[in-house]
Amino acid sequence: MAWRARGEFGYEYFDDPDGYRGYHQDGNGDGDYLPWQAAVEFCRSRGVTSAVDVGCAKGFLVAELLTSGVDAVGYDVSAYALSFTRGLPCSRADVRDGVPRAAEAVFALGVLLYLDEHELADVLTNLRRATGRFLLFSSYYEGDPQDVPDPLRRITRPGDWWRGRLTHAGFGFDHRGKCFDVYTV
Ligand SMILES: C[S@@+](CC[C@H](N)C(=O)[O-])C[C@H]1O[C@@H](n2cnc3c(N)ncnc32)[C@H](O)[C@@H]1O
Repeated sequence: MAWRARGEFGYEYFDDPDGYRGYHQDGNGDGDYLPWQAAVEFCRSRGVTSAVDVGCAKGFLVAELLTSGVDAVGYDVSAYALSFTRGLPCSRADVRDGVPRAAEAVFALGVLLYLDEHELADVLTNLRRATGRFLLFSSYYEGDPQDVPDPLRRITRPGDWWRGRLTHAGFGFDHRGKCFDVYTV
C-alpha cells in the first residue's frame, strides 16, 4: 500500500536536530522513558516467548527482545526507519492493512496516535486478532507535557479515552505500567 501523502516518517521525523526527534535508543525525549528493558522484563516475568512490535521504527525493541530469547518481529511503514534494521526481522507493513503475524504479546508503543480516529476501530480489530495473550500499549495523552510538538500526530486524546477504545475492542485492562499499559485478551 502506498504510504500516505500527508506526512512521512523520514529523517525529519526521527533525526533532524531541529525536528521532532522523538525516538532514540537511549530515550525518546520524554524524560526517562526506556521501554526496551521494561519490555524484556515484562516478557520474562509473564513467560512470553513470541512478540510482534507494531511501529517498530529502527528495531530497538525487536533487537532487545531477540537478545533476551523472545521470538520477535517488527513492522513499520517507514522505509527510512527500516533502513536501520539490517539483520533484524523487521519489515514494511501498515497496521491499517492488518498484522502479518500473530504472537503472544503485541507491542503498539507510540504508534496508534498516527492514525485518523475513524481508522482506529478496524486497526484495533486487526491487533486483537494478532494478540495471543497481551497487548502492550502507549501513546501521547492529551495534557501530557511535550517539549517539542509532534507534527505527525493525528489523535490527541486523554488516557481514559484510549482505554475505553481498547476495552471496547476486546482488550481487558490489566494495569498501567511505567513505560506502557498492559492489556490482556
Ligand atoms: C513515535 S515512533 C514509535 C517507535 C517505537 N514503537 C517506540 O515506542 O519508541 C512511531 C512509529 O510508528 C510508525 N507508524 C506510523 N503509522 C504506522 C502505521 N499505520 N503502520 C505501521 N507503523 C506506523 C512510524 O513509522 C514510526 O516508526
